[in-house]
Amino acid sequence: MKLVVGMSGASGAPYAKRLVELLRADPRVVSLSLVLSRTAATVYAHECGGHPSGLGVPVYSGRDYDAPFASGSAPADAMVVIPASMSTVARIAHGISDDLLTRAADVVLKERRKLIVVPREMPVSAIHLENMLSLTRAGALVLPASPSFYHRPKAVSDLVDTVLDRVRDHLGLPAPGARRWRQEPSPDSQPADSAQPHTAGHLRPVVDYGEDA
Ligand SMILES: Cc1cc2nc3c(=O)[nH]c(=O)nc-3n(C[C@H](O)[C@H](O)[C@H](O)COP(=O)(O)O)c2cc1C
Repeated sequence: MKLVVGMSGASGAPYAKRLVELLRADPRVVSLSLVLSRTAATVYAHECGGHPSGLGVPVYSGRDYDAPFASGSAPADAMVVIPASMSTVARIAHGISDDLLTRAADVVLKERRKLIVVPREMPVSAIHLENMLSLTRAGALVLPASPSFYHRPKAVSDLVDTVLDRVRDHLGLPAPGARRWRQEPSPDSQPADSAQPHTAGHLRPVVDYGEDA
């Protein structure tokens, strides 16, 4: 699978960092590129330290339309915009391809490939909601960065992974160790995720809200 990850300037750079690490280690992914918006590197430095160029995949930014996936003649199979700022959401929703990230997303939509948008903002205005509705109507999947807690996360990375498990499901690249409601991780969960520390795979999906809840 040929994938593009677009990182914009919303809070949530650790989602993008971890997703790139996981996809890089996934043998089902034959090509992986990272596209940065104008603000992505600034937020990444704040939240992760360093620069995304250290992630070991080809990194594009700005208006580098030389990237193959800038054209409908060589589109990616799928693209994930994570985290997606409200500015990036707005521009994709309105077909404003003013940088490589928004152009790549536009290409994925027009070529009827898979676009997963992981917005991050709170609260949201009517403008934000309408833009997300437009994206949905255009065929994108809007998958908010809303971690789940029923697996009793022990670390921030566990929360991050609850979102990424869903992203990978929708890419058609399910993680063997994905936390699922009332299911144990499969016994072969190690290979796909073993490239990076992964602390939550052993947790049983149990909810206990107490008798009075
Ligand atoms: C540390 C930091 C955190 C931010 N978090 C968000 C956020 O969660 N959501 C959002 O929509 N914008 C956020 N912004 C503002 C965007 O970066 C800003 O609107 C920018 O113009 C987005 O452009 P881009 O989508 O091209 O990266 C944040 C900015 C900074 C510096």
